[in-house]
Amino acid sequence: MPIVRDKKIEVLFPAEAIALRNRELAGEIAGRYFEGLLVVSVLKGSFIFAADLIRAMHGAGLAPEIEFILVSSYGAGTTSGEVKVLRDIDAPVAGRDVLLIDDILESGKTLKFTRELLLNRGARSVAIAVLLDKRGRRQTELEADFVGFDCPDRFVVGYGMDAGHFFRELPFVGVIEGDAP
Ligand code: IMP
Ligand code: MG
Repeated sequence: MPIVRDKKIEVLFPAEAIALRNRELAGEIAGRYFEGLLVVSVLKGSFIFAADLIRAMHGAGLAPEIEFILVSSYGAGTTSGEVKVLRDIDAPVAGRDVLLIDDILESGKTLKFTRELLLNRGARSVAIAVLLDKRGRRQTELEADFVGFDCPDRFVVGYGMDAGHFFRELPFVGVIEGDAP
């Protein structure tokens, strides 16, 4: 078991499995879009997944424009779950096909808010790609169009995802041993 910051990390999704799945996802995405795609990576958690997925998309023949949006959920885990844009995209989205990339779909509040924001600005379509889907924790009707893996209902770290701003650098997704299952 890898040890990072004195914590044993149980690997749930190894780097090789993620890389393989990214290539499959890129093939699915390339089957749906032709040109003019705008990819919006939802920071911060998606930065590594987005970096790998867009390179796999290149391998599948796509040449998207890439943007970043930083959103934060206030009271995550509470009922309010208010979402706020902390750093907006620069590109106009009117009439464009947009692919939102995020790390985890959990309650769905973050991506529902972000999707509606872009649709209200006139995006022609807004699809969602997530590495992990925690279906058991959904609080909205939102579903992703492209899902890497179904995720057990545990707090995961690595591959961009953090616990208190650490562990994002791990090349795999895992759980910190001793954390509540
Ligand atoms: P939700 O779908 O609005 O509930 O929010 C999902 C967001 O919460 C993800 O984009 C992550 O940033 C964060 N998140 C949810 N579950 C985890 C986890 O297990 N580890 C790290 N971040 C998580
Ligand atoms: Mg996030």
